[in-house]
This record gives sequence, structure tokens and C-alpha cells, in this order.
Amino acid sequence: MTSVLVTGGAGYIGSHAVKALSESGLRVVVYDNLSAGHREATRFADAFVEGEIQDADTLRSAIRDHDVDAVMHFAAWLSVGDSVRDPAGYYRNNVMGALAVLDAMVAEHVPRLVFSSTAAVFGNPVETPITEEHPKQPINAYGETKLAIERALPHYGRAYGLRSVVLRYFNAAGADPDGALGEDHDPELHLIPRAVDAALGRDSFQIFGDDYDTPDGTCLRDYVHVTDLAAAHILALESLRAGGPSARYNLGNGQPTSVRDVVDAVARVVGRQVPVAIGPRRDGDPAVLFASSARIKQELGWKPRFEHIDTIVRTAWAWRDVRPAGYRTAAQAER
Ligand code: UFG
Repeated sequence: MTSVLVTGGAGYIGSHAVKALSESGLRVVVYDNLSAGHREATRFADAFVEGEIQDADTLRSAIRDHDVDAVMHFAAWLSVGDSVRDPAGYYRNNVMGALAVLDAMVAEHVPRLVFSSTAAVFGNPVETPITEEHPKQPINAYGETKLAIERALPHYGRAYGLRSVVLRYFNAAGADPDGALGEDHDPELHLIPRAVDAALGRDSFQIFGDDYDTPDGTCLRDYVHVTDLAAAHILALESLRAGGPSARYNLGNGQPTSVRDVVDAVARVVGRQVPVAIGPRRDGDPAVLFASSARIKQELGWKPRFEHIDTIVRTAWAWRDVRPAGYRTAAQAER
């Protein structure tokens, strides 16, 4: 039986995709160096290979050993702020890493790729909702590294016959509705887990700026459930397997939601107030970012199941309530 290789399958979005692949009856091999991911998060995979993304030999043997006929490439660094401080690391990991995966695919004749991209390829929006045609002008190294690979892919398509679907996530959020998987970054910088921790009295919380030109002064974002993102990966793979063309899709709910809306949703779901301090704006935060996902809905039939912000927050809270230290044990988290 052929397999799907999932790089970064021990990470947040990757692990949810692995579970969805496995539930679709596909054989899954995770390739991850566990630098940020968690071994436990890979338990729905059929095989696990611990390896570096630029290790060509290990990548190629993983592909050969498991008869891989498609790759989902998630393995990358993902913090906008860190990418401004350490662009070299981001180019090495995200550009050279992805090129190593592409090289291995070409060498081993793997013809299908689903590539994780981001809303950060657009930079400051010139119009909303953001469609696939919106100008690509990243304002940080993270967005540049993802765009560099997006731009390489059509050339790999023409020269080597490698077909790809690029998925540009807006704000991935929530956790597996069965409670089997969740978000566990160290440090955790994302809004929803931080606000949940504040509601549970575990941490302090700041809103980064309430003087934006938005209805309530806080940034508007487009939160999309991680399980809905995972489902989009399955549709993308099915389309490639059916001989469909290379494509790029934006993935969001199309619902602009402010930081205050999220804080209110957390208070409703947890049943406790979120103690909030107002801090300065965070560098590199656009005021408004939300997607048009009309194209993937129309072309691949994507239909998000967990659209409401309360539903998204409920799953995130359920995971964080039961697993305060995420995949780590409480003792590991103390260290
Ligand atoms: N925020 C706070 N307080 C916090 C954390 C976040 O007010 O403690 C605000 C941010 O300023 C932002 C919103 O909540 O307005 C969402 O912030 P996140 O850090 O959760 O997510 P980002 O929008 O910064 O990042 C997401 C993806 C990135 C992607 C980026 C594109 O996680 O991968 O969108 O702008 F690059």
C-alpha cells in the first residue's frame, strides 16, 4: 500500500492532518525532528521517522521504504516575530528545508505535494476579503520564505511534472473535537490559548493594541478550525490523486473577528471573565486580515464544520483544560 509522507506531522496542524488522513483510510508516515512537535501527537500515523528536513538521505529512504506517492509538507518555523529577528534561520529552515523535500520528491519520482502556506504571504491587505489574486507583498521574513516556495512550485511543475496544492491558512485555531490532539507551542504566543489560560487564572494576558482603525479598536482576524484545515488537506490530496491541476487556495471562515470578540467568546465558553490589560501594538500586525475561501469551496467542495468562534474556542478550551501542560507532563513543563 502506498503512503502519504507528512513532514512536520508531530506539529499542531500536521498532527490534525495525520489523524484526518488515517480516518480516510490512508497509510501515513510522519517525518519530524521533534524540535517543536510531539511524539504523542503522531500516534495516528502508521510510521514515524525522526529526521532533519535537510537530510536528503533520510528523506529519500523514508520515501522509498514506505512507498510514498504524495507529500504534505508542514515542517517549518512559524513565528512572525522570530522571523524578523532571525531571518537566516527562517530561510534555512523554511526555504532550504522545503527545497530539500522537493529535491527528494523529484529524485524519488513522487508527483504530488500539498504545501502549507500562510496569510502572511499577502502582507498588509489592500482589499478584503483577501482572494487568491490579492497582491503578495509579505512584510516579514516568515511570509517571504513561504512565498519563495509558492513561486518555485510552478517551475517544478513544468520541469519535473510535480503537481501541488498550496493552502494558505489564516488563523489556525481550536483542537481536535474528540480531544485527542491540540495546540502545544512552547512558548505559546497565539491568542486563543493565551486568553483561555488567562480565564483559567494560569497566566496574564494583554491585548496588543486597542487603537486600530477597526470597530472596537482591536485587530480583526479570520479564525479557522484546525480540523477544517485538515479536511482541506484531504480534499487537496484527493484532487491531485484524481489528476486535478496544481492550485492555490486561501483558507479561512471569511468572518472578521476582533481580539475583543475572541476574549468575549472565551469568557462565554469558560464561564469566567478574562482579566485583560491593554498593551502596545505588536510589530508586524496588520489591522485587518480575513479570507475569501470561495475558490476552495467551489473547486474542491470544502465546507467548514466549526465556523462559529464559540465552537472553535470550546474545542481549544476543552484541550487546554484537560491538558494544562499540553503533551508534556506537568514536571516537564515546570523545567
Ligand atoms: N494577540 C493579543 N494578545 C496575545 C496574542 C495575540 O492581543 O497575547 C492578538 C494579535 O495582536 C493579533 C491576534 O491576537 O491581532 C492574533 O494573534 P496570533 O498571534 O494568535 O496570530 P497572528 O494573527 O499573529 O498569526 C497568524 C498565524 C501566522 C501568520 C499570521 C499572518 O499564526 O502563522 O497569522 O499575519 F503568519
